[in-house]
Formats: sequence, structure tokens, C-alpha cells
Amino acid sequence: MIRLFLYHYSMKKVVVFSGAGMSAESGIQTFRDSDGLWEQHRVEDVATPEAWRTDPDLVTKFYNERRKRILESVPNAAHREISELEKLADVHIVTQNIDDLHERAGSSNVLHLHGNIRFAKSSGPNQEREYFEIDGWELTHNDLCPDGHRLRPHVVWFGEAVPAYEDAAEVLSKADILIVIGTSLQVHPAAGLIHYASMATHKYIIDPNANNLSVSNDFIKIAGGASEGIDQVMREIQKIVS
Ligand code: OAD
Repeated sequence: MIRLFLYHYSMKKVVVFSGAGMSAESGIQTFRDSDGLWEQHRVEDVATPEAWRTDPDLVTKFYNERRKRILESVPNAAHREISELEKLADVHIVTQNIDDLHERAGSSNVLHLHGNIRFAKSSGPNQEREYFEIDGWELTHNDLCPDGHRLRPHVVWFGEAVPAYEDAAEVLSKADILIVIGTSLQVHPAAGLIHYASMATHKYIIDPNANNLSVSNDFIKIAGGASEGIDQVMREIQKIVS
């Protein structure tokens, strides 16, 4: 028992900070690429508290479609490689994604900064108290919380607080190695989290657009898709942790 405990503590802490590009190879659309979700939907219509007040059915339909797509998708090679890394390192994932593909690939420590679409919560004033797992892909206007309010997706909308932010900052601040993958770093406060990784001796950013992303000079930029990039980073990490 003691030996196991010491072994865990001697492992390097690898923190993966993922965004929509992480799941692109699983067939899930990103937000800001040319074929991205925000090219087809106005954020104001579907992803804000005002949108919910104005047209909760439209918002529910938007997230039902997202949930259906996610349930039909499977983890890709990059999700699986990150999960495998747990054999060598103490791996923590902070994801902006509302899909559960990291978990389905087998990763143990996943913190969802922007919520998890498989869950719902009350749309009333006490919405942070309880989350309910949605059975299947569809949430309807008949789905009510025990407090009597309609259930809404457990996702963070624009203009809302990010309750998991402090926990995420704590995770990032302890990273020995940071891997940022598939995020345009355009949404705040999420994007600011990478600045907490000041202890990290190795920082990587994997993205087809990596060379245009604004990160500090200590990041190694890997311009490529998630699975190709992770393959390269894994080879380097194996040398660092062995
Ligand atoms: P974005 O759509 O802004 O950025 C996706 C990133 O993934 C871009 O930098 C792409 O270049 C990259 N990408 C595309 N294909 C890729 C691939 N195959 N492999 C790796 N990377 C690839 O998505 P996010 O940065 O995640 O928030 O967006 C952040 C937040 O904005 C989301 O969590 C969501 C959204 O609005 C909320 O809804 C609150």
C-alpha cells in the first residue's frame, strides 16, 4: 500500500487541456473552424441564458442534436493514447468539451470546465445543486427537476460563471508537463488557464493552426491533427518520464 502510494507520487503529473479539435477526428464539429458550429448557429440564439428565456425549445433542440451526435460518436486515437498514458504518468484532463469521449476512452481524471451534455440541471435559481443523467439523447419540455423547474442541459453558456474554474486552475498549477490540444484559445476565462502551468517544464500545443495561436515561447508547437500530434508528444513524454 505504502509502495503504491509512493509510486503514484513519484510519477510526473501530465495535464491535458483539450478543446473541440480533440474530438474533431471523432466527427464532432468544432466551433470556429470554417465549417464550425458557430458558422451555422448564432451564439445568442442557442448558448446564452437570454436564449433560454426567449426560446427554451430551440435551445433544447440545439443541445439534443449535439447530444445525439456525441452518443453516435466514439473516442478517437488521440483520446485513447491519452488514456494509455496513465500507465506512465499521473494524468489529469481539463476539457472545454461537453462530450464524454475522454471518459469513454478510459481516462480517469476528467474535469469538464463547460459542463457535460449527458447531464441536465434545473433551470431554476438553485441550478448548481444537482445534476441528472439524461437517459438517451433527448431532453423535452416535460422533463422537470424535482424543484418543479424545467431541466436544462448541464453546460456553461456565454455570460454564465464557470464554477469549475478554480479547481481547473489548481490542476494546471501542479502540472509538470502540459499538453494543450485542439483549442483556438479564444474563449475566456478558459484560455487563461494555461498561464497557471508555471511549474511545467515541458509545454506542448497540438493544433493544425498551432503556428498562429498565441502562446508563450516555452510552448513547443505541433502543427497537426490531434492523433498525429499526440503520437509525436507521447514519444517525447516516454523519454521524459522513463
Ligand atoms: P474552437 O472551435 O474555437 O477551436 C477548435 C480548435 O481545434 C481550432 O484551433 C482548430 O484549428 C483545432 N482543430 C481543428 N481540427 C483539429 C484536429 N483534427 N485536431 C486538433 N485540433 C483541431 O473550439 P474551442 O477552443 O474548444 O464553449 O472553443 C472553446 C469554447 O468555445 C467551447 O468550449 C465552447 C465554444 O463556444 C461554450 O459553449 C461555453
